Amino acid sequence: MFKGKIFNGKTILVTGGGTGLGRSMATYLSGLGANIVIVSRKQEVVEATAAEIEAQTGNPVLALPHDVRDYRNIKKLQQTILRRFGRIDGLINNAAGNFISPTERLSYKAFDTVVDIVLKGSYYLTLALGKYWIQEKIPGSVLNIVTTYASTGSGYVVPSSIAKAGVLNLTRSLAAEWGKYQIRLNAIAPGPFPTKGAWERLFPDPSMGEALLNRIPLKRVGKHEELCHLAAYLLSDYAAYMTGEVVTIDGGEWLAGAGEFNFLEQLSEQDWDALQKQKKR
Ligand code: HXC
Ligand code: NAP
Repeated sequence: MFKGKIFNGKTILVTGGGTGLGRSMATYLSGLGANIVIVSRKQEVVEATAAEIEAQTGNPVLALPHDVRDYRNIKKLQQTILRRFGRIDGLINNAAGNFISPTERLSYKAFDTVVDIVLKGSYYLTLALGKYWIQEKIPGSVLNIVTTYASTGSGYVVPSSIAKAGVLNLTRSLAAEWGKYQIRLNAIAPGPFPTKGAWERLFPDPSMGEALLNRIPLKRVGKHEELCHLAAYLLSDYAAYMTGEVVTIDGGEWLAGAGEFNFLEQLSEQDWDALQKQKKR
């Protein structure tokens, strides 16, 4: 969608940038000229991804091990990035943990693990970078990757659902509070976009994937580039007047599930003909 180097001179930190959607966004933003920093728990994964992105785009990618639950490491992380790139302009809170389970089967630690990665991980980095941006008078931009169930709630992924709802609230709350510093926060709520991490944990049985497609009005899953275009737009100056917003990109999935009569999609043309005749009687 974007052709020029619209992120030239900007440094963007992508959590969980070694795999999946984080990796795709990091690659796309790097191609648009950004200095990219990718962090996750697995150093070898982020390092391998960084080398591949650099080879593809020719722009620098810094890979650092960092557990987003660890606030104490953030100062060191920030200093390493500043030494390398001189400044930080954007943050994508993308790292996440999730699995499907009946809630009553979960231990409190299972809850803690997901909530700590998703919610604490997001507010820790947002807080640290926000303080830095305010002090340095930098118009920072944050993009939070949430889910559609951050708004609706969802059974069977409850730790993730409550944590993503918190992240969405963080997006809106700080958009109101930090607008005066020219700091913007927006969110994307993706529907299903195939990644190894999500698919292995959330759709372990192939039949679950088929059922998923039937629920989506556009009858397909998302393409990574579709999400990357949106992410680049929201982070960029083209969206300079947009803050506190969440943009859903899900092929209509959540609305189809929400509308009370949308289940009528299951009726065939013949069923409708029969119903019409009945009405006329
Ligand atoms: C029940 C589970 C569990 C499972 C772990 N636990 N997996 N409980 N069902 N499937 C419990 C453990 O028993 C333990 O509790 C506690 O959670 C911590 O487990 P660990 O394995 O020690 O945690 P850790 O190594 O930190 O791993 C974190 C993780 C893992 C979240 C459990 O899945 C992970 O690393 N995920 C990262 C990537 C990821 O999840 N990507 C998908 C994002 S997709 P006890 O009490 O036994 O000690 C996404 C999309 C949503 O969010 C929308 C899609 C359409
Ligand atoms: P993914 O590939 O599993 O990505 C999750 C990333 O988070 C991994 O790179 C993982 O790396 C990192 N991570 C996990 N715990 C971490 C921690 N404590 N500290 C630092 N990094 C950590 O899955 P994905 O599908 O691309 O998901 C990316 C984002 O999109 C998530 O926020 C997810 O909720 C959201 N999302 C995805 C979909 C979808 O359909 N794919 C739909 C809606 C929302 P390490 O294991 O190396 O730490």
